[in-house]
Amino acid sequence: MTGFSADWLNLRELADQQARNSALLRYAAAFASTEVDAQSVVLDLGAGTGSTFRAFEHISPSLESPLTWRFVDNDRELLEEAARRGHEGRPIETYELDLNRVEDLPLGGVRLITASALFDLVSGPFVDRLIGAVNRAALDRPMGFYAALNYDGTTCWDPAHSLDQAVLDAFNDDQVTEKGFGPALGPGACDYIKQALEGVGYSVKLAASPWKLDGKNSQLVAELIQGIGNAVQSHPELAADDIAAWLEFRLSHAAFGSCIVGHIDLLAIRE
Ligand SMILES: C[S@@+](CC[C@H](N)C(=O)[O-])C[C@H]1O[C@@H](n2cnc3c(N)ncnc32)[C@H](O)[C@@H]1O
Repeated sequence: MTGFSADWLNLRELADQQARNSALLRYAAAFASTEVDAQSVVLDLGAGTGSTFRAFEHISPSLESPLTWRFVDNDRELLEEAARRGHEGRPIETYELDLNRVEDLPLGGVRLITASALFDLVSGPFVDRLIGAVNRAALDRPMGFYAALNYDGTTCWDPAHSLDQAVLDAFNDDQVTEKGFGPALGPGACDYIKQALEGVGYSVKLAASPWKLDGKNSQLVAELIQGIGNAVQSHPELAADDIAAWLEFRLSHAAFGSCIVGHIDLLAIRE
C-alpha cells in the first residue's frame, strides 16, 4: 500500500484528537489501567507516530499506571518518530512488522489492543485472523480492543456542490479496494468488527467521532480534497472535467467552508 507520511499524520492529529469520542477513550484508558502490573501492555497496531498513545497520555498520564506501550508498524521511520516522541515516564517498545503476519504479533501480556485510522483499511479475513490470534494468546485473561477513527462513508460539505454526492460515491467505492490486507472493509469496518468480537464474547460499544473541519483546518481540508481527487480520478462514472471542476471549487473554499467527515470509534471488552 502507499505509505503514510509523518507530515500527513501530524496534519491530522489535532483533528483526530478533537474527534475521538471522549467517553469511549476514557473507558478504554480506565480498562487499560485497571488491575495492571509492571508486565501489562497496550499494543498499538499501525501506530504511526504514536497518536493513539498521546491521546491516552492526555487523559491518563504516565505516572498513574505502569503500562508499557508496544507500537507495531511496518514503517520504520514512523516508528522511530513515535519512539522519539514517547514519554520519559512510560516504557515504549517498537516492532517493525507487517500486520498481516498476525501470528508474529507480540501479544504477550497485552491487556488492550488499540488502533486509529486503521481498521477501515483492513479486510474481513484479516480481522478474523487477528481475533483468532488474540484468542489463542489471551483466552484466560481480560482483553480489550479500542479501534478509533474508522471512516463511516459520510462526508458533508458546506457550501454544497452539485457533484458532491457523485464524488462521495466514487470515493467510497475506492475505500473498499485493496489497501494491503485484501479487499478493504472501508465504511463497513465497525459493523464487521463488532459482529466478529461479539461472536467471541466481547461486549462492544460504538460511538461517533466525526472530523468537524473549517477554515482553521484549511491545510488538512486541502490535503483531504486532493486525496479524494486522487482516489476518484480513474472512476468510470466521473468525467475528468467534472473532477477538475469539483476540485477547483472545493480547493477555493478550503479556507472558508466547512466539512464533516464521519468516523466511528469502537471499544470492545471481554472481562
Ligand atoms: C492512517 S495511518 C494511522 C497511524 C496512527 N494510528 C494515527 O492515528 O496517526 C495507518 C498506519 O498503519 C500502518 N500500516 C498500514 N499497513 C500496515 C501493515 N500492513 N503493517 C503494519 N503497519 C501498517 C501505516 O504505516 C500507518 O502508520
